[in-house]
Amino acid sequence: MNVLILGANGFIGSHLSEMILAETNWHIYAMDLSSDKIENCLNHERFHFKQGDITVDKAWVTEQIKNCDVILPLVAIATPAVYVQDPLRIFELDFEANLDIIRQCVKYKKRIIFPSTSEVYGMCEDSHFDEEESNLVTGPIHKERWIYSTSKQLLDRVIFAYGKHHGLIYTLFRPFNWYGPKLDNIFNSKPGGSRVLTQFIGNILRGEDIMLVDGGEQQRCFMYIDDGIHALMKMIENKNDCAKNKIFNIGNPVENISIKTLAELLVKNIKQYPKYSEMASKTQLQTVPAEKYYGKGYQDVSLRVPSIQRAADELGWKPAVNLTDGLKKTLDFYLA
Ligand code: UGA
Repeated sequence: MNVLILGANGFIGSHLSEMILAETNWHIYAMDLSSDKIENCLNHERFHFKQGDITVDKAWVTEQIKNCDVILPLVAIATPAVYVQDPLRIFELDFEANLDIIRQCVKYKKRIIFPSTSEVYGMCEDSHFDEEESNLVTGPIHKERWIYSTSKQLLDRVIFAYGKHHGLIYTLFRPFNWYGPKLDNIFNSKPGGSRVLTQFIGNILRGEDIMLVDGGEQQRCFMYIDDGIHALMKMIENKNDCAKNKIFNIGNPVENISIKTLAELLVKNIKQYPKYSEMASKTQLQTVPAEKYYGKGYQDVSLRVPSIQRAADELGWKPAVNLTDGLKKTLDFYLA
């Protein structure tokens, strides 16, 4: 099988590339702007990488879509601060650039596995978000945070419609706060410059206080990356069409903690590393209003728990790594 991964150097793309090369005989065709996270793949005989920009190197992308069996367009900005600061970049890259890829999959009759997001459920009040039943709830237009959620939602709807009316074969997966090695750059010191886990690790290592947005009572279910990659492998394999034209939440509903608890856990765990113990001991947790931290266009999600019944029933998948083990592996990577 030939697999096309656009955005192979991203958090998900890099882990997926490694697992495909280690566990299958598939060929990977891959593009990204850079290659620092996939250095160990670059010389592999089944890894065919082109450094480039999917919005510029369009002829290469089209060639590979024609040449591959399954397409994973993973290029996107997924950092909430950017949704608020530069919403049109989200529209142009996450929406427009990916719409072009989706249309080519329709044209060349290629199977697509597309990253939707837990963010599509927005402020839905269900205790567990269900792919087929839950409402997708976002705020008013001036709350620009929702441009990511609604861009992804519209692409979900477009893909669904192409599936129903034009025979597109697709799988939509919705990651719920996946984390692990290679998540974001911990040296990015901008507030909100990376997702929360790497943001907090960076804060501690730079000797800064941790900023809890609105007190940090909001909760997230954190899932270790390997669990997500195992789910993706099952979607790519698509045994007996188990993933055909379906939507899957992929998250860990058991590991549901508040952001404040996450901060406390990170401080406690980093104290175990002799080199950083003193730094962690000095870290204070501070509360900051969301408007001050992110700006007026921000609105938050207070509870976000996936139902993963569908993934269990159809893919035979469930998460296996608990938060204690996942955080240990992540800290070992970043603090090494
Ligand atoms: C994320 C991003 O939108 C995407 O990466 C992704 O699609 C999705 O969720 C997912 O992975 O499920 P969110 O969980 O809000 O959204 O993003 P984070 O930046 O990781 O923030 C999590 C929470 O921590 C938010 O409530 C935020 O306000 C809080 N936070 C963040 C702080 O309290 N302090 C900080 O310094 C940074």
